[in-house]
Amino acid sequence: MTRIFSGIKPTGHLTLGNYLGAVRQWVEVDQHKAEALFCVVDLHALTVDHDPARVRRLSRQAATLLLAAGLEPARCTVFVQSHVDEHTRLSYLLECTASDGEMRRMIQYKEKSARERAAGGGVRLSLLTYPVLMAADILAYSADEVPVGDDQAQHVELTRDLAVRFNQRYGHTFTVPKAVLPAVAARVMDLQDPTSKMGKSHAETAGIIYLLDEPEVARKKIMRAVTDSGSEVVYDREAQPGVANLLEILAACTGGKPAELAGTYASYGALKRDAAEAVLELLRPVRERHAELCADPGYVDAVLREGAGRARELARPTVDAAYAAIGLLPPA
Ligand code: TYM
Repeated sequence: MTRIFSGIKPTGHLTLGNYLGAVRQWVEVDQHKAEALFCVVDLHALTVDHDPARVRRLSRQAATLLLAAGLEPARCTVFVQSHVDEHTRLSYLLECTASDGEMRRMIQYKEKSARERAAGGGVRLSLLTYPVLMAADILAYSADEVPVGDDQAQHVELTRDLAVRFNQRYGHTFTVPKAVLPAVAARVMDLQDPTSKMGKSHAETAGIIYLLDEPEVARKKIMRAVTDSGSEVVYDREAQPGVANLLEILAACTGGKPAELAGTYASYGALKRDAAEAVLELLRPVRERHAELCADPGYVDAVLREGAGRARELARPTVDAAYAAIGLLPPA
């Protein structure tokens, strides 16, 4: 049976980008078609300056939101990365497989390390090795598919390289996974700066729709989205990035095609109104279910406990096999 693994990092409140780029396909497609695991990757949140209480709070919130969005514990495994030791156990072996040059070439490392330096802080070593831990997340479960947004495609590509290299050196151990991107909205852009990605850890929040934004707040953010200097609604990511972003958001929410939708609008205002309506409609049930789940934290704890147990069971044999293959003496 196909195995699917994906994860989300608790570094901020979940955004519309996370939802359209990843979570929605986990809910609507992945959990129904395969053995699927979805992980709140809390160790990844420690790679930049962090507040311990906030990471803890956001980890619980992310798990609650994944369930609110529609992941069903009877159909898939939802768990927290730090609850399953196999991730870090395997990560070290993959550090012994990867090169530092490969790590330094990662786009996210270049961007994030530059940001950390500009802020006057040091760059944590774990930021450099981040993609190795991500590879361990995926390879520990012998995942065939990794449903992600566009910004994670390079990391999945690296994961494939490491799996192939390890298998060639030490014998077949890992499944070589592939990234699966959504057809539309694989890269939702910031509403105020449509040339950069809508990211949950950005400090400037006016261009970011959070899943838990009050409906009126989300509506305002969309109505105030930066559009482009023309007045005609065309789908052109280069020439009209703001309008293209709104068309993609609308298309992703309604199941249409951005280029076709463009032809049905005579003004930016009408496009914004419809995009806002569509987003509110999409998020309403998630917000409602989230409120219900918050009233029952024991349920979320139980789901995560069971999820970690199941994840451990699945990961242990592969990670043990990797330890043996690489030449480590098994405990007697
Ligand atoms: P993270 O937490 O940044 O994002 C979670 C998922 O949401 C997608 N995404 C977006 N998609 C479209 N438009 C956007 N603006 C947008 N912003 C985020 C991401 O592509 C991702 O699919 N390194 C990963 C977490 C991770 C992981 C893994 C993912 C760790 N281990 C193993 C898959 C498999 C990350 O930081 O995602």
